[in-house]
Amino acid sequence: MRSHYCGELNLSHDGQEVTLCGWVHRRRDHGGVIFLDLRDREGIAQVVFDPDTEEAFALADKSRSEYVLKVTGRVRPRPEGTVNTNMGTGEIEVLGKQLEILNSAQTPPFPLDEYSDVGEDVRLRHRYIDLRRPEMQEKLVLRSKITRAVRNYMDAHGFLDIETPVLTRATPEGARDYLVPSRTHAGSFFALPQSPQLFKQLLMVSGFDRYYQIVKCFRDEDLRADRQPEFTQIDIETSFMEEEQIMGLTEGLVKKLLKDIKGVDLGEFPQMSYEEAMRRYGSDKPDLRIPLELVDVADLMASIEFKVFKGPAEDPKGRVAALKVTGGAELSRKQIDEYTKFVSIYGAKGLAWIKVNAIENGANGLQSPIIKFLGEDVTMQIMERVGAQNGDIVFFGADKEKVVNEALGALRCKLGADLNLFTREWAPLWVVNFPMFEEDDKGNLTALHHPFTAPTCTPDELMANPATALSRAYDMVLNGYEVGGGSVRIHEETMQQTVFRVLNIDEEEQREKFGFLLDALKYGAPPHGGLAFGLDRLVMLMCGTDNIREVIAFPKTQSAACLLTQAPGTVDANQLRDLNLRIRRDPASAVSH
Ligand code: AMO
Ligand code: AMP
Repeated sequence: MRSHYCGELNLSHDGQEVTLCGWVHRRRDHGGVIFLDLRDREGIAQVVFDPDTEEAFALADKSRSEYVLKVTGRVRPRPEGTVNTNMGTGEIEVLGKQLEILNSAQTPPFPLDEYSDVGEDVRLRHRYIDLRRPEMQEKLVLRSKITRAVRNYMDAHGFLDIETPVLTRATPEGARDYLVPSRTHAGSFFALPQSPQLFKQLLMVSGFDRYYQIVKCFRDEDLRADRQPEFTQIDIETSFMEEEQIMGLTEGLVKKLLKDIKGVDLGEFPQMSYEEAMRRYGSDKPDLRIPLELVDVADLMASIEFKVFKGPAEDPKGRVAALKVTGGAELSRKQIDEYTKFVSIYGAKGLAWIKVNAIENGANGLQSPIIKFLGEDVTMQIMERVGAQNGDIVFFGADKEKVVNEALGALRCKLGADLNLFTREWAPLWVVNFPMFEEDDKGNLTALHHPFTAPTCTPDELMANPATALSRAYDMVLNGYEVGGGSVRIHEETMQQTVFRVLNIDEEEQREKFGFLLDALKYGAPPHGGLAFGLDRLVMLMCGTDNIREVIAFPKTQSAACLLTQAPGTVDANQLRDLNLRIRRDPASAVSH
């Protein structure tokens, strides 16, 4: 129907007759002349209707916001003084001659022609309208550009795009599974893949050497701003490559995306051990744009009586750390109280602080509710260790190591954002040398990555000292987000069985759940490894937003529901009977949106 997109018109089209199709973005009646801003995916063009073109004028007069129109007219330069430099097509307008109303529209639930602060619920319920907004269109266009660039890169490096099943068995990545009941096997369930991990490893056993897939993954886990229950991975696996090669290849992909699409040169990614990341930043995905660091001070607390600090200082699983914030002495009592509330989300029982007003006066130049407990001597040693200067504030966390890391790690990022301490726009890094296992709340070991990750030691050494064993895993971190994670895998049956044993998976369960993998490892499995990127997170960062829902066309809410389709929904009794299912009538489990 159309000859041009609205957004592509410019002075080079002067004098041409064009046909445009799009939505009425705005309609203005300037006493006798009607202006319609017509919008399509490429932008907006101004169309003018004179009363001389009677028929078209009458239809333009009838048109309202979001009507769908087909307009034919002639492009001409805008009269002097009416050029709009904020608009891509601001130098031209179209003199409308024919107008066809392709469809009318009710008044939209929120205006599209001006910025308005619409609640996300309303936007998600009417997502098809929300997505008409130019800023949303830009994000999905960028997403499409990124996936195209990914495919080009993978293709150029000899990777094959191979699909893996969606109806499958549980693939443990640490979240709950989404289950699908089988009709033909009463009482049995498929699990939707948390990732294609096991299938991509099987493809390596089959000899497909270099595999990739842009693929949906499903995880029933607590949602956050950077997590969705269904999300997309750029999933990669290779044979006969060690970690440095895999990291080089995947680093190359992200560098190319940022260079080609954003014009940013990321440079070579630094590597940091998990241990160093936790010690200096309290996080395994440190945001290196923020120049604040955690400093251990437990050793200085041994001599004091202040229980809050002394307890964790003497606990082998405890940590006492300081976080110096340059310029932070200006924070008010109210702000400090708010930060104290913020760290309590992570289990911190308080947030001690010292303001540095005049360090040259020793402890007299400091202001704090805890100096009286620490004593002057210890206080000044702490000030020296953190390099405190006038105008700084020093925060303290004392608790179990996990609590201190999470609380001060999050506080560091929050302060970085609140006080705008960022030193650069992009900070990539690799985190390496992860432990194989971590202890859960009940004291059981669980895989830090997934149970198919290779350790750096032999099976015997692993069995002897599982808690201290390191893995051959690596995470790519960008601006404080884990954008990708991967590892060299176990390709020998004995090693795989050893890991299962450490994880308390007995032989019967091993056969039941992973028999196919253990069998495959018997038939000539090559050494292999790979990585998966979170595509949504990459796009989110490249769009400059911190909300993953902004870069997904039809996302789920924080409670894992789709407001547009009202999914999940109930099903009728016949369907349940076919599936051999019965719903427990428990009001607490009733569906609500
Ligand atoms: P992992 O579990 O680290 O590894 O996932 C890889 C990447 O996927 C992204 N991601 C998510 N994005 C949005 N919402 C979620 N709920 C979500 N969960 C994960 C993250 C993460 O870095 N099979 C392994 C990869 C491998 O070893 O090759 C895996 O899935 O950006
Ligand atoms: P209290 O003696 O409990 O009033 O605590 C004195 C100061 O130490 C207050 O500023 C508290 O916020 C702080 N505080 C208490 N518990 C902790 C903790 N676990 N870590 C850091 N600071 C704490």
